[in-house]
Amino acid sequence: MSKTYTVAILGATGAVGYELLELLESRHFPLADLKLLASPRSAGQTLPFKGENITVAAVDENSFNNVDILLASAGGSTSRAWAHKAVDAGAVVIDNSSAFRMNPDVPLVVPEVNPDAVVKHKGIIANPNCTTILMAVAIYPLHQVKKIQRIVAATYQSASGAGAKAMAEVQAQASAILTGEKPPTDIFPYPLAFNLFPHNTPLNEMGYCEEEMKMVNETRKIFAAPDIRVTATCVRVPVLRAHSEAINLEFAEPFSADEAREILNKAPGVKVVEDWQANYFPMPVDATGRDEVLVGRIRQDISHPCGLELWLCGDQIRKGAALNAVQIAELLVEKNIVKPEPATVSR
Ligand SMILES: NC(=O)c1ccc[n+]([C@@H]2O[C@H](COP(=O)([O-])OP(=O)(O)OC[C@H]3O[C@@H](n4cnc5c(N)ncnc54)[C@H](OP(=O)(O)O)[C@@H]3O)[C@@H](O)[C@H]2O)c1
Repeated sequence: MSKTYTVAILGATGAVGYELLELLESRHFPLADLKLLASPRSAGQTLPFKGENITVAAVDENSFNNVDILLASAGGSTSRAWAHKAVDAGAVVIDNSSAFRMNPDVPLVVPEVNPDAVVKHKGIIANPNCTTILMAVAIYPLHQVKKIQRIVAATYQSASGAGAKAMAEVQAQASAILTGEKPPTDIFPYPLAFNLFPHNTPLNEMGYCEEEMKMVNETRKIFAAPDIRVTATCVRVPVLRAHSEAINLEFAEPFSADEAREILNKAPGVKVVEDWQANYFPMPVDATGRDEVLVGRIRQDISHPCGLELWLCGDQIRKGAALNAVQIAELLVEKNIVKPEPATVSR
């Protein structure tokens, strides 16, 4: 009989948690048992899985007994509070937050890019930031053929990137504005409906926000390319779900748009969507609920002989978070390395 695993989801009631449940079911993950965990606010709530209702428990010291894999998806402070305890209890943690991504003991994995990095895990594996995952899936196949020297990214990030409550808030804002009322701003600092604003994560001394620096540092770590030059401008837009990105790539030598298109047509996790006659290219509504990163408008950069431009849309709750995490869990199962080596992740 094939091996089965006890999986726990920490953050099961969130936007990513909901998708994790759906993916474990639809991808037939070999489950022995499934535990759903969240904060005390959701304890007792039930969530449907395989035709049954599973009760959510508040996470506590005993939550990880007999758990093989913890899918942690409840924010950085929650991961910092619980991940090491889960590892100590014998689980491997696949963490969706930014808490451990840049820790040298923690592999940062996009299965289409660096699947072998999981082998070195010491109990915790990090899922990269959502905008970084989507970009990595789309540009790594090109980087494998001709090394990328510089990336200039501009993102158009949906409300759901800030969680389930943010998604509800932008809908409430739209209704309020349409009826002449003041839009609520409990989650976002400013109205997002009928508006946009630069990503509101903290700024560093160079004027880059955290989200932008994640794209810089995480891309370098995932590609194992510490010298690749990356700059980004991240913007929140009034789209409910799926992020978009305009990417400019500079190579050491010319890279034709046709050759890039041919490579991306065969690339794992990528779907080229281009109808130049109809001026039809990827849109967030088309990417929503899909596993692939949609890529289009692949064209020569007219300002640089070695430059390429492309546009992408991807469901950041799915490939940018939940799907990537489940794919990592599948890699662990496939390589039979669910049980970590003695925990040595620096604390
Ligand atoms: N949304 C995205 O597109 C996206 C993409 C990539 C990565 N991520 C990351 O994934 C994680 C979850 O994001 P999300 O969008 O799903 O957020 P969310 O919709 O706000 O859900 C947060 C989840 O975490 C739980 N939680 C919050 N505080 C907790 C605590 N102190 N103890 C236990 N559980 C707690 C919540 O439980 P309650 O219901 O009990 O409050 C809820 O289940 C975050 O680290 C986020 O940065 C999100």
